[in-house]
Amino acid sequence: MTNNAKVIVVGNEKGGSGKSTLSIHLAIAYLYSGYKVATIDLDGRQGTLTHYIENRVRYANEKNLDLPMPEHLVVTPSQFSNRRSSNEDEEQLDAEIKDLKTEYDIIIIDTPGTYSHLSNAGHKNADILITPVNDSLVDIDVIANIDPNTKEIISESQYTNNIRNIQKIRKDIGKDDLFWIVLRNRISHIDAKNKREVDNILKKLQTQLGFTYISGIGERVVYREMFLKGLTILDLLKTGTDEITISHIAAKNELLTVLNTINIPLKQDI
Ligand SMILES: Nc1ncnc2c1ncn2[C@@H]1O[C@H](COP(=O)(O)OP(=O)(O)O)[C@@H](O)[C@H]1O
Ligand SMILES: [Mg+2]
Repeated sequence: MTNNAKVIVVGNEKGGSGKSTLSIHLAIAYLYSGYKVATIDLDGRQGTLTHYIENRVRYANEKNLDLPMPEHLVVTPSQFSNRRSSNEDEEQLDAEIKDLKTEYDIIIIDTPGTYSHLSNAGHKNADILITPVNDSLVDIDVIANIDPNTKEIISESQYTNNIRNIQKIRKDIGKDDLFWIVLRNRISHIDAKNKREVDNILKKLQTQLGFTYISGIGERVVYREMFLKGLTILDLLKTGTDEITISHIAAKNELLTVLNTINIPLKQDI
């Protein structure tokens, strides 16, 4: 029994912000560091994380590589959408997580880009929530509605509201605070007004909304190229099968910054 198993949820009610890519990178990083890791795909409809892992298994077999693999689970919602089936789905997910916690140190949950009762149930289980946002003002709208002139918060988004409710429930039942990280992803290398504005607004929001802001992961072509092989930056650096560029090293350093912020100490260098 690993009593202090941690659940990391990667969530943002928006598609394309990099949740699945981040989920696999975190999972493989913790595996290389010596932890037992399980992953859960709550976005079974898209199944990006699931396909990523399937590609990884296939590539490892083809190339005879000894790549670390997480224990992977897909949890799909029942086909009925009524209150009873929602509760049953939530109970099933809670039971699966409870079970995984007895054997794994870290459980990483990837979620869909829209609200669903299953995604919400996943969020309720989070010890750590990471919300990747793309380098765009449109993405900030998922967190809060911003006045275009003053750049002040007009209102919190439904997603933020939801997180607040979850934080409140945790407090009421005596659980530790939910550690919420907002991570700026796909930062462009070109200096633009929009880019600085996103940074300024997120800096301001972090104190008001109580998250920790990391700025973040750069826009790098390499992220789009690894999916079909199911590889991560760390595998590329370790296996030495591809040519290593400065962009790979920078990407690893960015990942290390994210891992440092999450604050689960690495057992060994990755
Ligand atoms: N840092 C990055 N640089 C470049 N492309 C990225 C980066 N992170 C993610 N992507 C790409 O963005 C797209 C969406 O990423 P994905 O992880 O599927 O997002 P989500 O799970 O939030 O929908 C994918 O094509 C992915 O390869
Ligand atoms: Mg996804």
